[in-house]
Amino acid sequence: MLVAFAGLGLVYVLESVELMDYTVRKAAEVENFMTSVERVMKYTELDHEPGYKVKKLPPEHWPSKGDITLQDLSMTYYPGGPQVLRNVNLHIKDGTNVGVTGRTGAGKSSLVAALLRMPDAQGALMIDDIVVKDINLQVSRRCVSVLGQRPVLFSGSLRENLDLVEQFQDVELWRALEIVQLKELVESLEGKLDHQLLEHGANFSVGERQLICLARVLLHKRKIVILDEPTAHVDPDTEQTTWRIVREKLKGSTVITIAHRLNTIKDCDMILVMKDDEIDEFDSFNSVVTKT
Ligand SMILES: Nc1ncnc2c1ncn2[C@@H]1O[C@H](COP(=O)(O)OP(=O)(O)O)[C@@H](O)[C@H]1O
Ligand SMILES: [Mg+2]
Repeated sequence: MLVAFAGLGLVYVLESVELMDYTVRKAAEVENFMTSVERVMKYTELDHEPGYKVKKLPPEHWPSKGDITLQDLSMTYYPGGPQVLRNVNLHIKDGTNVGVTGRTGAGKSSLVAALLRMPDAQGALMIDDIVVKDINLQVSRRCVSVLGQRPVLFSGSLRENLDLVEQFQDVELWRALEIVQLKELVESLEGKLDHQLLEHGANFSVGERQLICLARVLLHKRKIVILDEPTAHVDPDTEQTTWRIVREKLKGSTVITIAHRLNTIKDCDMILVMKDDEIDEFDSFNSVVTKT
């Protein structure tokens, strides 16, 4: 009897040691995760961007064309900071394919930031004759698609990455994937459209990630599409595919392409050359090349 109790006691002791180990491990994990909670709490305390408080909405179906006008546009990234755009005046007619070029630091990305109201610039920025500063920030951002240098993907299913608010049907998603030549790849994946992406899409190659982002742009068919050197980090094949799709499939939108190499934007209707935070030239490719 005594031996049996001793044995039982020993088993309990051993088990509780194991449990102790588990408890300590879990406690450490919770402590780690709490850092994220803290970070989220901090974000909730941040002030909204001013444009969020503007409640005015644009007319329904705005923008129907994608016509862009900048009047005396100047921008600083933060109050008291240096001017990164200076009195920019520009009219981009709807449906135009504009190539933007200029040296590093010339203000190309800042022009894009101004279009996205990050932050709101001084002067007037109008899309289809509506001054965007006067309307709600989220609504005005929603009319612009951006494909940047780095693909923007998040952990979640492929479907969520393409269509976060579930506004498209599966056939549309497949169609977009087919255009960017990812249909076969996705068909071979476990779960297909429900295949889970890791954070930043880490389980896909950079080229594939960029093509997923391009598929997203094609799906949304926004009236203004901005391409900020989207092929800077992809392989030559993906680069070619990207530009071909851009030329063929984005005809209904005003497309603004930022590129370092003139060759990339030689097919654009207009070339915008930025220099020292101002517009140096805005003309056809041939005129720009002849002048320089
Ligand atoms: N987030 C930022 N905050 C402050 N200054 C910035 C920021 N981004 C760019 N700048 C400054 O704005 C100027 C124009 O930069 P940018 O528009 O990024 O040029 P580009 O895209 O033509 O290389 C540069 O002098 C740069 O230092
Ligand atoms: Mg840039």
